[in-house]
Amino acid sequence: MKTIIAHKELQDSLDDLRVGKSSIGLVPTMGYLHEGHLSLIKRAKLENDIVVTTIFVNPLQFSATEDLDTYPKDIEKDTLLACEAGADFLFIPSQQEMFCDDVLTSISIAEISSILEGVSRPTHFAGVATVVAKLFNIVGVCSAYFGEKDWQQLHVIKRMITDLSYRVEIKGCPIVRDADGLALSSRNMYLTEGQRKEASNIPRSLLKAYDLIKSGERNSTAVKQLIIAQLEKSTEIGIDYVELVNGETFKVADRIDDETRVLIAVKIGKARLIDNMSALNGPNI
Ligand code: PAJ
Repeated sequence: MKTIIAHKELQDSLDDLRVGKSSIGLVPTMGYLHEGHLSLIKRAKLENDIVVTTIFVNPLQFSATEDLDTYPKDIEKDTLLACEAGADFLFIPSQQEMFCDDVLTSISIAEISSILEGVSRPTHFAGVATVVAKLFNIVGVCSAYFGEKDWQQLHVIKRMITDLSYRVEIKGCPIVRDADGLALSSRNMYLTEGQRKEASNIPRSLLKAYDLIKSGERNSTAVKQLIIAQLEKSTEIGIDYVELVNGETFKVADRIDDETRVLIAVKIGKARLIDNMSALNGPNI
């Protein structure tokens, strides 16, 4: 695996490989890699000749009050893990390399960016879309791998691809979870031991909701109330939102059908955590 800091060097290397008709898989990350990230890299390796993993803690997607300065980093460990998982190139640009002194261009995807995550993080998805667009422009034609954990992010990117005709195929990958069902996240490291235990209420609430749906319940309000009641059992958890929406259009779903997605965002201590599941298939716990 080759570590690259300059985007021109990455472009030149990939141009050479494309002459030999190599297919390229791209896995964008903010680093502090865990099994969730590694599942994306492994899948990209299975489906492509060459895998590019990127690590860039993107300031554009953090608001002034968020955790940009404390976001966890371990480049040495990430380098080892990315290599073991099958990455061929690890692109780790500096802030200066990505955005020079400042960035005046922004890509915003209307409607989908201002609901759910966008309510408490109004500038977040424009920041994500802008950096991901830049990575797509650097890497060029490729398949790009994103986790379903960030369900709304996955759909923001899909919409950008459609609207701006990027020659990128998006591959959504299942959520990787800890033994108790908690979705892996770099931000889980902010949790104290006690908060980590309480956090298992998130997957537990999804499992309870799924049991209710399996028993025949199709009324979204009843399912939402059950999830809220389970989350409220923990005094550590502050609910940001619990919503049932159409997983493609993001329109609120009053009745549950096979396109319904259950989406949760909570605060625990210093961490803001999200999770989701298909209402009819349940969480993959
Ligand atoms: P980051 O949070 O580092 O996540 C990188 C990728 O890993 C995303 O596609 C995310 O959905 C996926 N991922 C994270 N946890 C996962 C889990 N438990 N199971 C499966 N996939 C998981 O998401 C970002 O970075 C950034 O917004 C980024 C897209 C890199 C743009 O800056």
